[in-house]
Amino acid sequence: MRIRQATVDDYPQLLKLKQEFFDWESGTDDRIDPSYRSHIGPRLGRDLRRDTCAYFVAQEGKELTAYAGMEVKKSGQEYRTRKYAYIFHLYAKNGHRGKGIGSQLLTACMAWARRQGLKEVHIKVHAFNKDAWRLYKKRFKDYLMTLIAKT
Ligand SMILES: CC(C)(COP(=O)(O)OP(=O)(O)OC[C@H]1O[C@@H](n2cnc3c(N)ncnc32)[C@H](O)[C@@H]1OP(=O)(O)O)[C@@H](O)C(=O)NCCC(=O)NCCS
Repeated sequence: MRIRQATVDDYPQLLKLKQEFFDWESGTDDRIDPSYRSHIGPRLGRDLRRDTCAYFVAQEGKELTAYAGMEVKKSGQEYRTRKYAYIFHLYAKNGHRGKGIGSQLLTACMAWARRQGLKEVHIKVHAFNKDAWRLYKKRFKDYLMTLIAKT
């Protein structure tokens, strides 16, 4: 298994993985608009070409088994840290979980953020997502939580 940064050549397989992630996520979060699915491809095409965005993939043979996607975002003006890295996706295919791949993808994401000179990484996670929570709690020692509640 190899972790590497994705390139435009990964578009077809990465698109399938992103659609899988979207289907999984929209099944868990009723705020997600199902019609966004048709925007995933065009957005991925743009993302793979901009340098404020990075995708990392886990590759086994010719197959991509997991990926992480991140981008540079801006904080509000009241914050001293003006820019941060936002990991918008982290996903491992069923059958490839619990083997350390997610953790290695996070390592690649953190290294990319540091190379960009960014001091913070942000991730959103649902309270019910115990697998992801376990991983993040293990990996991040010093974190701040934002709570988003439905009214
Ligand atoms: C969350 C996710 C990306 C984690 O990837 P992963 O490759 O399974 O994570 P790792 O194998 O690196 O797990 C590291 C730790 O997290 C825990 N863990 C995470 N997912 C686990 C799983 N499915 N089964 C068992 N342990 C899991 C384990 O405690 C593990 O610790 P260990 O080293 O002591 O075994 C993966 O479960 C997934 O794709 N889930 C669905 C999508 C999702 O929830 N994405 C995150 C959105 S915020």
